[in-house]
Amino acid sequence: MRTIATLLLSAGLVASASQTLAGPKEDLEKFRAYFEQKFPGMQLDDFGNGAYALDASKRLQWESMEEFPPYEEFVDKGREIWEKPFKNGKSFADCFGKDPSKVRVRYPHWDSKTQQVVTLEGDINKCLKENGEKPFKWKKGPIAWLSAFFGYEARGQKINVKIPDDPKALEAYEKGKHFFYAKRGQLNMACADCHVKYAGHFIRGNLLSPALGHVTHFPVYRAKWAKKSKNGDGLGTLHRRYGGCNKQVRARPFKAQSEEYRDLEFFHQYMSNGLTINAPGYRE
Ligand code: HEC
Repeated sequence: MRTIATLLLSAGLVASASQTLAGPKEDLEKFRAYFEQKFPGMQLDDFGNGAYALDASKRLQWESMEEFPPYEEFVDKGREIWEKPFKNGKSFADCFGKDPSKVRVRYPHWDSKTQQVVTLEGDINKCLKENGEKPFKWKKGPIAWLSAFFGYEARGQKINVKIPDDPKALEAYEKGKHFFYAKRGQLNMACADCHVKYAGHFIRGNLLSPALGHVTHFPVYRAKWAKKSKNGDGLGTLHRRYGGCNKQVRARPFKAQSEEYRDLEFFHQYMSNGLTINAPGYRE
């Protein structure tokens, strides 16, 4: 006698049924449950503190950095950019609305018109172009300052990425998810290897942060990036970090704001829904 399952299988119905069952919502529940089990007792928002939530002495050093944060002057520069009118008399407020504290939480999002994931940095440059201004470079400098200013203004609000029930949006989400779990580079490692499986372990002297909470404090100010810059500007965007992490496994990084990284960001930020925005953050 054929069971219901085999009947469904032969009719090709099982696969489509399970696809509708396991969507972003179920992914998020599993993702969170995994980390809560791996780090029992850790407060949800503490995941946003990355490796510093896992090591008491590192945490102390970090807290003292955050007392006189080296990123403050760059957040101020971001505020100046926000306030300065364009040559045509308009300003960023004409693109983003008058209240800068309401901007960060809207990103990333699915744009049904252009059928793609839109990021905060993407819209910053779109706004410049539409107003006849030169777009910023993607990974650091003014784009990171302005993005950090939006993040700073949004501190205390929660990440709230929505994946609409649109097959194309789900496809972008699935692509991002696949990117996150796919092995790559000469070291043949996935984001998930370092930031899910080995989160909390050391790799070449670095304590690996959990992917849950990864995005709460971006753009991030890194001491390493500050050392490389002329003016102590260590701010960099999320896609700059993606590139760095791709290079760590000796994989060719994608371009900042490429479709690959935007889809990755869609998945990656969604996984931190409900965590508190705390941008910019200081990191080594
Ligand atoms: C070989 C291991 C490795 C892989 C693979 C890897 N990373 Fe990382 N990543 C690190 C290390 C080491 C750090 C710095 C320590 C930390 O915060 O985890 C880091 C830091 C980060 C941070 C910053 C965390 C913070 O608290 O600011 C993000 C975000 C991140 N990685 C995302 C990714 C993504 C997305 C991928 C896949 C494209 C990826 N990483 C792949 C090793 C890795």
